[in-house]
Amino acid sequence: MAIKLSEAAEKRVEELKAKYPDSRSAVMPALYIAQEELGYVNGDAINWVAEKIGMAPVHVMEVATFYTMYYKKPVGKYHFQVCRTLSCALRGAREITEHLHKRFNLLPGEVSADGKWSYEEVECLGSCGTAPMCEVNDIFFENLTPEKLEAIIERIDKENPDLRFSSVKDKLGEGLKGQTKSEII
Ligand code: FES
Repeated sequence: MAIKLSEAAEKRVEELKAKYPDSRSAVMPALYIAQEELGYVNGDAINWVAEKIGMAPVHVMEVATFYTMYYKKPVGKYHFQVCRTLSCALRGAREITEHLHKRFNLLPGEVSADGKWSYEEVECLGSCGTAPMCEVNDIFFENLTPEKLEAIIERIDKENPDLRFSSVKDKLGEGLKGQTKSEII
């Protein structure tokens, strides 16, 4: 039997299911909801989603492992995903990753002792025209330089914004209210 998530999560997934002729179509937002509750998509999350939407766990797992936006292991409160694919690679992605490495003294996939920071390299995030870029949780930061990245890190460190994608709250980047991406960059 799958674990039980919060009442808000259970309610949200029921609402999502009602929007589709086939409840299995809700697999992606349902995974988001589970990730938001649990911090990452583990076996419990897979089983919870599978049970809720009526899909075999192995098929939920296929979706979760295909997309880097679902974290398969614990990440920091602020998780940087640096695109390393061609456009970003040609325009300085390596410097971006190196800055994170030196700034946090971490290897990709490691989490800082205070649980605040982590990073990894990922493939194309579909923002090739604004390379190099990275995501912090689900917020895009584009046309980066190490200096711009450092300014973003300092601001996040100081303000501790809520940068979670929130399917439960129905808002992308709710925590950036009043502090839009362009202001940060
Ligand atoms: S190559 Fe980096 S976003 Fe596409």
